[in-house]
Amino acid sequence: MTPQFIAQNRRKFLKFLAASPLATLPASAWQNQLVPFEMKDAKDAISVADFEEMARRLLPPAHWGYMASGVDDDRTYRANIDGYKKIELRPRRLVDVSKPDLKVDLFGKTYDSPIFICPTGGHKMFHPEGEVATGRAAKSKNALQILSTVSSTSIEDVTQARGEPVWYQLYVPSKWENVETLVRRVEATGTPVMAVTVDLLAGRNTETFRRFRRQDTRDCTVCHGPGEPGTNLAERPMFKGLT
Ligand SMILES: Cc1cc2nc3c(=O)[nH]c(=O)nc-3n(C[C@H](O)[C@H](O)[C@H](O)COP(=O)(O)O)c2cc1C
Repeated sequence: MTPQFIAQNRRKFLKFLAASPLATLPASAWQNQLVPFEMKDAKDAISVADFEEMARRLLPPAHWGYMASGVDDDRTYRANIDGYKKIELRPRRLVDVSKPDLKVDLFGKTYDSPIFICPTGGHKMFHPEGEVATGRAAKSKNALQILSTVSSTSIEDVTQARGEPVWYQLYVPSKWENVETLVRRVEATGTPVMAVTVDLLAGRNTETFRRFRRQDTRDCTVCHGPGEPGTNLAERPMFKGLT
C-alpha cells in the first residue's frame, strides 16, 4: 500500500463517519459498539440490558426510579456491577456442549437454572398483572421465584400462576400475632422455604428514587390513595387482616 492510497482511503473513511448517525453517539457508546435502537417489543431484545432501556422509556419516572435506585449515592449498587465485570468465564475447549445442563437442586426441588427471581416489592408498578405475570414467566422457565412481603399480589394468586408453591421473603412484622398470622397464611400455600430479610430495620436513603420521584407529574393518589405512595402497607395484599 502506497502512502497516497492510505491517505485517499482515510479521507473516504472520515467522510463516511461524518455522515453516519454513529458519529453522534457519546464516546461510551462507541467503546461499547452500541447502535441506537428503541426496542418496541420485548421479543426484540438481544440482551437483558435492552429491557433496561425500554423500562426507563416506558415506566412512570417514580416507578422507574424505585427500581433503579440504590442507597447513599448508589455506591454499593455501582460496586456490585463493577464486581461482576471482574468475573471472567474460562472457556474449556473440546468439551461436548451440545446438551448444556445448568440444573440445580435446592431443598428437594430441581430448577433448570441457578438464576432465580429475587424478592422485589410491588410488581404492579411495572406491569398491571404484577407478580402473577412474574409467576407465569417463572413457570415457563422452571425458575425459582421468591415472593416479597410487600408484593402487590397475594401469595395465593402467585402460587396458582406459578403452578406450585413459591418461596417467601419475610419482613418480620413488629407484633408477634401478625408474624404468626402471616407465616400461617404463607405456610398454607405449601411454601417450602421462607427467607427472612434482616437488613431493613429503619428504612433506607434511596436518593436516585427521590430524584426521579420529583420528575413525576402524575397524581399518585389516583392509584395509591392519600399519603406518601408505598408507605400505606395496609393496602398490600399480604397485610390484609394484620392489625
Ligand atoms: C426494586 C427493588 C425492590 C426490592 N425489594 C425487596 C423486597 O421487597 N424484599 C427483599 O428482601 N429484597 C428486596 N430487594 C433486594 C433484592 O431481592 C436483591 O437482594 C438485591 O436487588 C440484590 O440483587 P441484584 O444484585 O440481582 O439486584 C429489592 C431490590 C430492588 C432493586
